[in-house]
Amino acid sequence: MTPEATLAKYYAERAPYYERVYHKPERQSDLRRLRVWVAEAFAGKIILEIACGTGYWTELISHNAASVVALDFNEEVLAYARQKPCAPGKVTFMQGDAFALPHLPRIFDAALAGFWWSHIPKSRLRPFLKGLHDALQPGALVMFFDNAYVEGNSTKLVSRKDSDGNPLSHCDGDGNTYQERVLDDGSLHQIVKNFPEAEELRETLAGSASEIEIQFLTYYWVLTYRTRRS
Ligand SMILES: C[S@@+](CC[C@H](N)C(=O)[O-])C[C@H]1O[C@@H](n2cnc3c(N)ncnc32)[C@H](O)[C@@H]1O
Repeated sequence: MTPEATLAKYYAERAPYYERVYHKPERQSDLRRLRVWVAEAFAGKIILEIACGTGYWTELISHNAASVVALDFNEEVLAYARQKPCAPGKVTFMQGDAFALPHLPRIFDAALAGFWWSHIPKSRLRPFLKGLHDALQPGALVMFFDNAYVEGNSTKLVSRKDSDGNPLSHCDGDGNTYQERVLDDGSLHQIVKNFPEAEELRETLAGSASEIEIQFLTYYWVLTYRTRRS
């Protein structure tokens, strides 16, 4: 199976209890800050959300947004997202592949992707961003946020952990790091989970973004920028 297929299968199986990740007590302070930023940043926007999962962020942004198209590869997570108390008439959930976006109903002035960047193999980052930016107006607002990692001994990969405490199992030839995740049924899934530093985020966006801002909280990093205006 490709890393992308492994990832999709992992999240399909994790769907019923994915949102446990938002109940971790130690993260609540960061999460409150992030929720305020996200709700404020996307007020009034026509939003494309990539890899929306169970709709945790979709519901939040729906209340102040003009409209939201929220896309995910897995019907298993979309089934939960469709149950969320989103603002009536504003949200369309769609099945689709972030790496090959389907025909979308309109052009957007904003995009959001939570906890998705870290799962994109490095070789696919720029093509993914090109596809995303092609779906947006020039000067659109884009926000990504994701897990920060807890630095251990930087020379020993196995001692690096993400903010869930998951150790990184290995690194491939492209510099992607992998985690071994265990689901409730005991199944083991080896998935791409990268922890870019600010410089790498900036380099990846070079030439295609302006007004880049990056903030690191304790458990999360947050990236916002504008797509090129010409
Ligand atoms: C870490 S979850 C994030 C969910 C949601 N954004 C959140 O923050 O709660 C990653 C999501 O990516 C989705 N996914 C995996 N591969 C995908 C692909 N190729 N295209 C779109 N979504 C994909 C999974 O189904 C999963 O819902």
